[in-house]
Amino acid sequence: MSIWKYFALRSVLPVKSICGFAGTVVFTARALIGIAGNQSANQCMKKSEAISVIFSNSANLLRKSPLKKNRGIKQGRILKTSLIMECKPVVFFDSGIGGLPYLEMARQRVTGELFIYLADRKHFPYGVKRPSEILTGVMESLGLAIRRFDPRAVVVACNTASVIALAELRKKYDIPFIGVVPAVKPAARSIPAGRLAVLATERTLADNYLADLIRNFAEGCEVIRYPLGKLVDLVEYDYFSTSAAEKKAIVSRELGNLKNSAVSSAVLGCTHFILLEEELKSAMGGGVEIVDSREGVTRQLIRVLEDKGSGEECHGRRDCFYVTGEPPVEERYRKFAGKYGLEFAGILL
Ligand code: DGL
Repeated sequence: MSIWKYFALRSVLPVKSICGFAGTVVFTARALIGIAGNQSANQCMKKSEAISVIFSNSANLLRKSPLKKNRGIKQGRILKTSLIMECKPVVFFDSGIGGLPYLEMARQRVTGELFIYLADRKHFPYGVKRPSEILTGVMESLGLAIRRFDPRAVVVACNTASVIALAELRKKYDIPFIGVVPAVKPAARSIPAGRLAVLATERTLADNYLADLIRNFAEGCEVIRYPLGKLVDLVEYDYFSTSAAEKKAIVSRELGNLKNSAVSSAVLGCTHFILLEEELKSAMGGGVEIVDSREGVTRQLIRVLEDKGSGEECHGRRDCFYVTGEPPVEERYRKFAGKYGLEFAGILL
């Protein structure tokens, strides 16, 4: 073949066929080494989504591949945008299972979206850690989910993570983040000059974020900051193994003197406490209004999703529950997934 014919041929070679070839090689290689290695890709995604995962991995492989070196092409990128219908889920994130009631409300109100829940089991609990440790944990684990799922929106369904990491997350990623912070504003609105208790982790209670919320929205109220870290552990570790009567007794004991402090309203400033809402209500007594932020967070999520258009390309997928950390994963996480109607997908790799 003449040199001119060779160059003419090369210049008209469709880019996609080069990409397709590269993709096939990588796809086959990955299939051989085993897509089943990632259990979650099988359970929670349609085939096309699994392929998308493979191809986004293939982008990494291609970066090192001689194909790229020789041809100077960015096949990985082209493949991702040209061949794959991307489904962008909404990710809910918490240190553990506390964010599930938030996801539950979102699933009741929002249709046509795929939801992924991630419990940061690897770094649990957040509430007793230093801010820098929490920030590192959130950036690592939520960062993994963001790279893996490319979400349309993220709900940081954890007060402690939100007060510590929201600003950093917004700086780093061009994704809408919906934070979950103690519902001081709505609680104070109904008792402008009353006594208000904020029940939360030590870290949330000590944070300036909460101080600002109180200064801005509950100026006229007397605010009692009440840490309840033991209840976080009760919910995360022993929710299924503790009887209703035991839960009631533990909650009552942990509330201690707060029960006699004549508070008008108690803000559930830790997402885990929502799973003990009934016990908290009954221990505090009928006169105390129990307030949480689910309603406001869900409304905000709906606003964000309306701005972003529909998530139709996710149609038919199952909402999934992942955890971080190492195997073996404790059985209770599968039970939590079942309780909230989610597919248990194991460890997020
Ligand atoms: N669920 C988290 C919150 O809303 C905290 C639990 C933990 O300490 O990890 O603050």
